[in-house]
Amino acid sequence: MIKKPKGKLGILTPGMGAVASTFMAGVIAINKGIAEPIGSLTQMGTIRLGKRTENRRPKIKDFVPITDLKDIVFGGWDIFSDNMYKAALNAAVLEKDLLKKIRPELKAIKPMKAVFDKNYVKKLDGKHVKKGKTKMDLAKQVMQDIKNFKKENGCDRLVMVWCGSTEIYIAPGGKVHSTLKAFEKGLRENHKDIAPSQIYTYAALKMGIPYANGAPNLSCDFPAMVELAHKTKTPIAGKDFKTGQTLMKTILAPGLKARAIGIKGWFSTNILGNRDGEVLDDPESFKTKEVSKLSVLEEILEPELNPTLYKDLYHKVRINYYPPHGDNKEGWDQIDIFGWLGYGMQIKIDFLCRDSILAAPIVLDLALFLDLAKRSKFYGIQEWLSFYLKSPQAKEGLQPQHDIFIQLQKLQNTLRHIQGEELITHLGLDYYY
Ligand SMILES: NC(=O)c1ccc[n+]([C@@H]2O[C@H](COP(=O)([O-])OP(=O)(O)OC[C@H]3O[C@@H](n4cnc5c(N)ncnc54)[C@H](O)[C@@H]3O)[C@@H](O)[C@H]2O)c1
Repeated sequence: MIKKPKGKLGILTPGMGAVASTFMAGVIAINKGIAEPIGSLTQMGTIRLGKRTENRRPKIKDFVPITDLKDIVFGGWDIFSDNMYKAALNAAVLEKDLLKKIRPELKAIKPMKAVFDKNYVKKLDGKHVKKGKTKMDLAKQVMQDIKNFKKENGCDRLVMVWCGSTEIYIAPGGKVHSTLKAFEKGLRENHKDIAPSQIYTYAALKMGIPYANGAPNLSCDFPAMVELAHKTKTPIAGKDFKTGQTLMKTILAPGLKARAIGIKGWFSTNILGNRDGEVLDDPESFKTKEVSKLSVLEEILEPELNPTLYKDLYHKVRINYYPPHGDNKEGWDQIDIFGWLGYGMQIKIDFLCRDSILAAPIVLDLALFLDLAKRSKFYGIQEWLSFYLKSPQAKEGLQPQHDIFIQLQKLQNTLRHIQGEELITHLGLDYYY
């Protein structure tokens, strides 16, 4: 049994745009009693314990000792110096009326100067940026920021969740990413394959601060970072918040597969008009996102095990920047399926979603669960948090688990394990014999 935490938890987000401001504003509004934490499993979810006949179904937050929302403080970095009130107004996700009610709290959250290099996010440019001779110097500056933040805010513990823009695609497997020694040398020598996000990750892990990556770029998912996470006994979780279209995909595809329905084609296209959409309009940032989105179906459907059903699946993903839609993304899916004797059918989805509304509770849950993981003495890759991620990080050579229902069972069993409760297999024969 893990003890209830004492003191404040600081949640740091490199990147303080739409997702981060929606997350922070949400928690503040919830603490004021003017909104509900909808979409957050840690706050609204329940968990069954023991046998069905025992009727024990507490709320997750009453079962595991996670931090109370009232004990959270926020911080972060951005290339723009806007405070969180201004950032939330710019993002235009939440209504002005709501923002006005929490204006003083939001205004008080100001970004620290970012580690940024335009070469890694081609569509952005900002002035609120650190200077340093080497990438190692920059990492040290981030560590100093973290120390100052912790002291100034009287935090007992910290976690970091990357909410920054999607960086260009960097292929994993390079020498600089292979060992901690090579990576640290790369930091000192300004290696071009070390992107800003990796500098924040290094700083966090070096200080033993749990880290999750909400974007699809390479940041904690390579051997050098896993090595560092083990060395400093720090939990990590990557990558890319599972929202919108991919959330739908990982709900629907396991269902079709469960009934042995074949799939011939799955065409997914999005239109969105926020800053994220603009960044993804650059082919190099889109490539990062595409790789993250494409792997999902293949890994759920396992065509090699059932070629008749899935061998010829044509899967295509497109993202189109369309400013009039703002943060309200529209995701279309055309799914060509086939059933008994090969007869074809079609499913069409038109999901009018709100990207940051779906992402904000994920930031909260990841932060609270990573802090719980650290207090439970877990470290390295936290596969049980795959539930929240499009491209779940798994041990090298281990196939990641994409099916959202398996991910949920894994998450719930991990919570039962942490609290010394019996794991649930759903066998249930003992009810009958
Ligand atoms: N909203 C979703 O549903 C969703 C889902 C999955 C992933 N994501 C990812 O989450 C990230 C944030 O999304 P968003 O909608 O808030 O985007 P956004 O553009 O509104 O915010 C990103 C912020 O990061 C800042 N930034 C960029 N590089 C930085 C750096 N090196 N250091 C500090 N700040 C930096 C930008 O200035 C910007 O303010 C994106 O990478 C996006 O792809 C979002």
